[in-house]
Amino acid sequence: KPKVLSGMQPSGQLTLGNYIGALQNYVKLQHTHDCFFMVVDLHAITVAQEPAALKEQSEAVAALYLAAGLDPSVATVFLQSTVPAHAELGWMLTTLTYMGELERMTQFKDKSEGKESVGAGLFTYPSLMAADILLYNADLVPVGDDQKQHLELTRDLAHRFNQRFGETFKIPQPYIPEVGARIMSLDDASKKMSKSSPNAGSFIAMLDAPDVIRKKISRAVTDSGREVKYDPQNKPEVSNLLGIYAQCSGKSIAELEAQYEGQGYGPFKKELAEAVVSVLEPIQERYRQIRSSGELYDVLKQGKERAAAEAESMLKQVKEKMGFVLL
Ligand code: TYM
Repeated sequence: KPKVLSGMQPSGQLTLGNYIGALQNYVKLQHTHDCFFMVVDLHAITVAQEPAALKEQSEAVAALYLAAGLDPSVATVFLQSTVPAHAELGWMLTTLTYMGELERMTQFKDKSEGKESVGAGLFTYPSLMAADILLYNADLVPVGDDQKQHLELTRDLAHRFNQRFGETFKIPQPYIPEVGARIMSLDDASKKMSKSSPNAGSFIAMLDAPDVIRKKISRAVTDSGREVKYDPQNKPEVSNLLGIYAQCSGKSIAELEAQYEGQGYGPFKKELAEAVVSVLEPIQERYRQIRSSGELYDVLKQGKERAAAEAESMLKQVKEKMGFVLL
């Protein structure tokens, strides 16, 4: 089976963007691929995290993975920090990464812009992400559009390592959905929907109560027109909502445009909210069961063992090739 690896940061509540852009595809890929899905807690600490919040959010992300449909008897679900090989290979790949490459990363530029002191981890973050992927020799990495550039760097680092030390790593491919790879903010369609936004009205959290979801969608910014039409250039807000609707209903954009022709935004937004609720509500119910059942730690322990077995054998090969003394 081809291999898949991906992960999400526990730096806040997962959003509908995380679900549509990535998590949904994790669930799809688990039956056809050998899958590793992690909670990237080591990445989350590249910006300051309150320890109690980090712990709670890490557990919440793992529980949401399961609630969304990841089956731990099929896919390996684990916490990044429980497999030390990530930090080790991350360091080795950092030494192969050029400053110029990291300086070009748009995520780094966005996150560091206007800040007085920027942690070095935020800068070297992509080398750790490359280690995550290469440790498992992943063929495919399901991510949203914003991770494309990090994936490119991962591929470059894999090539570089192979060239310098001999064929070791497979070159991974991104797996990015056609619709929904970039879900935008509800209050500003020029920004992506983000769990770290200070304005809770700008995103739908996967755990938002149905009434909160309805309210947020009814308040979502649109334009002064009344045509429900997919036109990202001229109607970015409505196009974003159409993308969400398509992903949550299984209908195509064209079908939705036809359905709301001549009706204005009112009914469109109302029914969009119901489509979102119908996707998230069952996930929320399973989430509560999982959190109260106490099964999470067992799943994560088992995941840690399986992931560590893979990662350690890869790390050993890497150390051997780089000239480390193995004892
Ligand atoms: P993170 O935690 O920011 O996001 C997790 C996943 O959700 C996708 N995503 C979105 N997709 C569509 N629309 C949005 N508005 C949206 N916001 C987020 C992201 O593209 C991502 O797939 N660097 C990664 C975490 C990571 C990782 C890895 C991913 C660390 N190591 C190895 C893959 C493989 C990140 O910050 O994702």
